[in-house]
Amino acid sequence: EDESLMVKRPPVVCVMGHVDHGKTSLLDAIRHTNVTDREAGGITQHIGAYVVEINGEKITFLDTPGHEAFTAMRMRGASSTDIAILVVAADDGVMPQTVEAINHAKAAGVEIIVAINKIDKPGANIERVKQELTEYELIPEDWGGSTVFVPVSAHTKEGIPELLEMILLTAEVMELKANPNRAARGLVIEAELDKGKGSVATVLVQKGTLHVGDAIAAGSAHGRVRAMMDDKGRRVKEAGPSQPVEILGLNEVPNAGEVFVGCESEKEARSFAETFIAQNKVKLLEETKSRMSLDDLF
Ligand code: GTP
Ligand code: MG
Ligand code: NA
Repeated sequence: EDESLMVKRPPVVCVMGHVDHGKTSLLDAIRHTNVTDREAGGITQHIGAYVVEINGEKITFLDTPGHEAFTAMRMRGASSTDIAILVVAADDGVMPQTVEAINHAKAAGVEIIVAINKIDKPGANIERVKQELTEYELIPEDWGGSTVFVPVSAHTKEGIPELLEMILLTAEVMELKANPNRAARGLVIEAELDKGKGSVATVLVQKGTLHVGDAIAAGSAHGRVRAMMDDKGRRVKEAGPSQPVEILGLNEVPNAGEVFVGCESEKEARSFAETFIAQNKVKLLEETKSRMSLDDLF
């Protein structure tokens, strides 16, 4: 793409880690909100997308669930981001989904910043967490490695300004850019059917700008953007690179993780969706065939 058309965009930061290590609490502390209070059983079951502004610099955060049932969501979270914040509770240390998160982040090639959380707790052991993470090649700078570790507490808010500073510094070095003046393209973060509104999709714009009225396709779904809401529930007319928005107007509920594309016309959007469906049919057919030949063998 033409470098001269690219402008700075906010970093997309995925918060990952083992269940109950404090991912949502950390985001609550950063955003001055109380999302955790409203979660069923205190468990995150979807990806939340939030924009935070610090001294005029924006950061887009994706909260992901830590519960073991949500592997696919963590994978999608990691693959759509620039930086992963690996949250590890200082009193619990490295646990199975900590390791899973590290693997997803590494596979996606994203920068990892470690947030050692719950340092206010009596059982907190920062050095032990650092030691445990060396096994996964996450070595702190003061131990001769290159991974940034920030001890934090979502409860006392200790370390939160430092964590935000490290995110912005890391993003600065990455020189994240995108062309806002082109057809939008991005990812479906999650989607559902709402009784009143129809198909509601949370999308992350990665390139270009999405406008109300734009024709779009997302997987097998297509339509025209009827309305758009930002992460604070405010109606917006457009969304640029790194911005998460909720959109109405698709004819069906797209799968989370699907790519969405802004199109020239509704006709183009429909044909895009039809091509997607046709390709999927071929894929399904091939999968069935290979399964049949396996059946023949055994
Ligand atoms: P999942 O999304 O379900 O994986 O959990 P999570 O990682 O988002 O953890 P959550 O924010 O739900 O916090 C889990 C529990 O840890 C809650 O009871 C929080 O109040 C508590 N907690 C989170 N951060 C801290 C902290 O810094 N200090 C202390 N003492 N408790 C914390
Ligand atoms: Mg959570
Ligand atoms: Na939780």
